[in-house]
Amino acid sequence: MQDTNKRVYISTYGCQMNVNDTERMFSLLEMANYSPVATPEQADLIIINACSIREKPVHKVYSEVGTFRLLKERNPQLRIGVGGCVGQQEKENLLKWSPLIDFVFGTDSIDLLPSLVEKAYEDNAGKIVEAKFQHRSPYHIETMVRKPGVATFVNITKGCDNFCTFCVVPYTRGREKSRPLSHVMEDVKRLIQRGIKEITLLGQNVNSYESECGADFSDLLERLALETPLERIRFTTSHPKDFNQKLANVMFRNQPKVCEYIHLPFQSGSTRILERMNRGYTREEYIEKIAMIRATIPNVVLSTDIIVGFPGETEEEFLETISMVQTIGFETIFAFKYSPRPFTKAAKFTDQIDEVVKDERLARLFKAYDVVAQEMVKRYDGQILDILVEDYDEKRGNLHGRSSQNKNVYFIGDKSLVGQTVQVKITKAFPATFRGELVTHDFVTAGAVTTGLMAQEMEISGLENSL
Ligand code: 5AD
Ligand code: SF4
Repeated sequence: MQDTNKRVYISTYGCQMNVNDTERMFSLLEMANYSPVATPEQADLIIINACSIREKPVHKVYSEVGTFRLLKERNPQLRIGVGGCVGQQEKENLLKWSPLIDFVFGTDSIDLLPSLVEKAYEDNAGKIVEAKFQHRSPYHIETMVRKPGVATFVNITKGCDNFCTFCVVPYTRGREKSRPLSHVMEDVKRLIQRGIKEITLLGQNVNSYESECGADFSDLLERLALETPLERIRFTTSHPKDFNQKLANVMFRNQPKVCEYIHLPFQSGSTRILERMNRGYTREEYIEKIAMIRATIPNVVLSTDIIVGFPGETEEEFLETISMVQTIGFETIFAFKYSPRPFTKAAKFTDQIDEVVKDERLARLFKAYDVVAQEMVKRYDGQILDILVEDYDEKRGNLHGRSSQNKNVYFIGDKSLVGQTVQVKITKAFPATFRGELVTHDFVTAGAVTTGLMAQEMEISGLENSL
């Protein structure tokens, strides 16, 4: 067993799946008598849990580890570990790169963390790398969140078998596995007992979920909607090739419990590039899929992921991406410059695009999106939306919650409303966040929204999407 009263600091970068993994790490380490601390200076154990989907987070890990040099000199008992997708991807390289790192662990080794840490503290422990995939073991994890709050994420699949040629996920998260439906149901019921009102089902490709009992994703969604008292159910990420009519029907049938929001990455508007990306659909098929979804769920709100500057992308092909944004009407886009990732096919393509061209295309894409987004959000001005209140900001006196369409709404109200669904009239709709006024309670302070909100909006619109 570990000594009592040790302190752990975990630094997390990347997608929601990484955030969930960090919660799992904290929970497991708490059972081994580690308490979480807010700064690395206070810690006996530092863990960096980082995503590697795009290049920057890898660099961040390297530079963050460097900042711990002084701490390690001052406290030889300090242990530093690197986990998550970066651990899985880099393995021994991390140890070669920095003597400050004591242990490295992969995405399938999180449950081994307490024993790895114990080993790392043994005399003459040496460096440790634990990054094997557990291909054969079933995916039986229970959601571990320390303070579940009002809304939480529930993993239903892990890994991915799609092998899009740009994407490192199949190599960092391994083969796709689904949790049994009965386990997910039990897990969600436990979370509800802890106060959860909303869940987001999480996986790299939730639409290809398949329980060992034969249930598919639509079946899971419907069972959760019909058999639990959840107020809201969301899911991410969907893959266009697997999003079918049955799922759209289930979403529509179970509104408003199942939210009217779909994140459906299209990545490129050019069929030739989509083929090179190995996405499994053409431009036309994506457009048809959106038409099917809209015909079934008339009020649906859409968001997407886009990559610009994929190898070989011509100016004309890039313009096809812009035209998708202009014609489909995504309310939110998450757009990235293509970044070559280790092990992936596209990294070896010889027609890589110049960084300057990628920068310029990304800027043009955002500019085109901005025009569309400003126009699209206008319809929300003056609308009354049902907001499930998630948190209260003591400093600003603001409540924050989301609408069914996944809009972040900030408004003045009492802390006691956290966890309730209230009606809010939208007074200002920005593309990423809305301001509003409570309409269902007496203590509305009309117009009393602080200027601090603007700052929040800037921060939030700069957030990157999660897988
Ligand atoms: N380069 C740039 N963007 C990428 N994404 C995934 N891999 C890469 C890469 N190599 C983007 C995709 C995906 C989102 C989560 O990240 O758009 O949908
Ligand atoms: Fe899988 Fe999504 Fe990566 Fe494609 S982009 S390989 S679907 S995780």
